[in-house]
Amino acid sequence: MKYIMMAENIPAVSVIGVGCMRIASHKKEEVEELVRTALDNGINFFDHADIYGRGESERLFGEVLRDDLQLRDRMVIQSKCGINAGMYDFSREHIIEAVNGSLERLHTDHLDSLLLHRPDVLMESDQVREAFTQLYESGKVRSFGVSNMNRFQIELLQSGLPCQLTSDQLQLSLAHTPLIDEGFNVNTGWDNGIVRASGTLEYLRLKGMILQTWSPLQYGMFQGILLDEEKYPELNQQLQKLADKYSVSRDTIAYSWLLRLPQKVQVITGTTSPERLIRAARAAEVELSAREWYELYKSAGNRLP
Ligand SMILES: NC(=O)c1ccc[n+]([C@@H]2O[C@H](COP(=O)([O-])OP(=O)(O)OC[C@H]3O[C@@H](n4cnc5c(N)ncnc54)[C@H](OP(=O)(O)O)[C@@H]3O)[C@@H](O)[C@H]2O)c1
Repeated sequence: MKYIMMAENIPAVSVIGVGCMRIASHKKEEVEELVRTALDNGINFFDHADIYGRGESERLFGEVLRDDLQLRDRMVIQSKCGINAGMYDFSREHIIEAVNGSLERLHTDHLDSLLLHRPDVLMESDQVREAFTQLYESGKVRSFGVSNMNRFQIELLQSGLPCQLTSDQLQLSLAHTPLIDEGFNVNTGWDNGIVRASGTLEYLRLKGMILQTWSPLQYGMFQGILLDEEKYPELNQQLQKLADKYSVSRDTIAYSWLLRLPQKVQVITGTTSPERLIRAARAAEVELSAREWYELYKSAGNRLP
């Protein structure tokens, strides 16, 4: 496994993280097996949100922690807040209340990282600053980041904060590449050149912030995974070719493709299968060549100008 620094006051984080959005429908024993498999394979990072399974994901995970108090010391836990009854809410009260709820469900006294889940256009900088300061000073949250934000939204938020934002969690997979497409197609007049993320990929690299990629196998928004999907025959062939070359599985190669970006990247996998999680962990061992990276990108149906 490879590790990168997220913040100085928390342990280095594994480049593969376990996304816990889908664990709510599983039994506690299954969640425990997933957690232990992650730790045994060098994965120390677990991504939550207060809203996953309406709190059930955090609650189940917390039960696992409660039964073995030593597990907590081996992991870095991140959660998110800012979505409130289907709307966005960065008010001081909501942020603090949401974190208190997460801590209670997770059976822990602190979050290593807290992300604001989706941009709130009505955000007031003072409210976020006060909430973050209170959470940091009380020891409840050790570092802060964002999710689904473009560079200007990050800059705006950052300008009112005393601490450096560490990460931006964004959707990125071989079948969902708007973050990358806009960089290849500047001024082409093609649809792929439409600026959807405002140079956020480059901005994160410049700032040394971590790009956390969510839904690393999905196309569309939770429409399905790219493996064996009939829309992506060439991509699946290319994945198989490289899987054979590196003696791994196609999903491992799809994660390695994300990790090949020349910046701090963390792949947040959503698998709930211990076996597939081990395959995800192997992605950190595969270093694709630039040519292989481009061939995969093109085989997903992307053209370069
Ligand atoms: N910040 C945000 O707005 C945001 C939004 C969405 C998600 N997230 C985070 O990102 C994480 C990952 O998202 P995601 O769950 O959509 O990602 P994903 O890893 O692309 O998709 C996971 C789904 O794909 C299935 N899957 C994985 N590998 C497979 C394989 N080799 N063959 C067949 N099926 C396979 C999984 O089933 P099995 O469980 O059976 O393996 C699961 O249903 C979430 O858990 C959450 O932490 C963040």
